[in-house]
Amino acid sequence: MRMVEIIEKKRNGLALSRDEIRFVIKGYVKGIIPDYQISALAMAIYFRGMKTEETSELTMAMVESGEQVDLSLLGGASVDKHSSGGVGDKTTLIVAPLVAACGLPVAKMSGRGLGHTGGTIDKLSAIPGFRAEMSQTSFLKQVQKIGISIISQTGDLVPADKKLYALRDVTATVDSIPLIASSIMSKKIASGAKGIVLDVKYGSGAFMSSVKEAEELAQNMVAIGKNLGRDTVAVLSNMEQPLGNAVGNSIEVLEAIDSLQGRGPSDLMEVSLELASWMLLLGKKANSLQEARLMLEEVLDNRKAWDKFLEFIAAQGGDTDMVSRKKLLLAPLNVEFKATQTGYIESIDARKIGISAMILGAGRETKDSKIDFGAGILLLKKRGDLIIKDEPILCFYTSSADRIQPTFELLTKAIKFSDNPPSVLPMVTKVIF
Ligand code: URA
Repeated sequence: MRMVEIIEKKRNGLALSRDEIRFVIKGYVKGIIPDYQISALAMAIYFRGMKTEETSELTMAMVESGEQVDLSLLGGASVDKHSSGGVGDKTTLIVAPLVAACGLPVAKMSGRGLGHTGGTIDKLSAIPGFRAEMSQTSFLKQVQKIGISIISQTGDLVPADKKLYALRDVTATVDSIPLIASSIMSKKIASGAKGIVLDVKYGSGAFMSSVKEAEELAQNMVAIGKNLGRDTVAVLSNMEQPLGNAVGNSIEVLEAIDSLQGRGPSDLMEVSLELASWMLLLGKKANSLQEARLMLEEVLDNRKAWDKFLEFIAAQGGDTDMVSRKKLLLAPLNVEFKATQTGYIESIDARKIGISAMILGAGRETKDSKIDFGAGILLLKKRGDLIIKDEPILCFYTSSADRIQPTFELLTKAIKFSDNPPSVLPMVTKVIF
């Protein structure tokens, strides 16, 4: 088989066979096929797309490039949840203890953030003492004992994706639906769950800016999941503005604590409860979405979900005293950003808010940047709120005075005003299964 012929075939819009796809992934991981040929193929896929069977084959070839987690020890259904990436998205911190408190085990591997989107592992690492690295044996033991563990994805999980993603990042081939779908689904399948609930985001802060594109991505991922014998559901949710009010690391953990104590912002709770309900349904803990919703409301009201969160943090070495007393540190410089005019807030661009948080120190500009866990943004107003000139819209936290001015400049571009209230945007637009 010759790589140049495979590139040519895809360039001409033809479907690649199982053997060709395996040849490409194996050769790339082994270092036999060079980056420039994979870049050319990625660009051909970007323009020509892939059929569902090709994307499923690509997914499986990537899964088989590394180790796979065996969750059969947990017995029964194991259900995973994945977000396609957003700003202020702390749903895993809320959903995981919620469903675990309802008796569905959560054995979750999560990622770190890059660019304007945050990552669950960075948020959890803001808790002093929290250990995100663990052997597979200890990970499964903890889930058997307390029903929940969230750890960092190991380097051996889907090494093909690691290599390919880094290349896509610098060759303008990230936002290709078959490449995103196979990247996400390969990690979910290698993580071992039989059921997968996907939170596919659309809007200014998401990879997919329109509902139409998000729906296409969701349909692709659901088809791959089903092709590979996984019960898969995709929830399409809005990421025009940040989810909830907090963007950062410590600040998002504080908002997750409030949410688990029954004081979560309505948009964040709506998305979290929707995702958690589908997890209970796929995990056969509930017979209907209505029943799932009642179970979740009960563990929120009786604080079982909150207790489960504390148990999980303690099991992974986190300081539960600081968590229960909400003493996680925010960065020392606290600046208010005020409205420049009176009016309704028409939009709060999630991507610009995410980049602002990154400039403040809450995210990584490159994969080796160090995070300032206390840096972040707290929105005091959201889309549709009426605001008077000079009233604060948000406040931000940073440790470094020279980050204040560039943040101000970007925030000024992120927020738009209007004389009339904007239309209400639904949080959950559609569910695909
Ligand atoms: N998230 C992933 O894991 N992969 C992509 O390609 C895009 C988002």
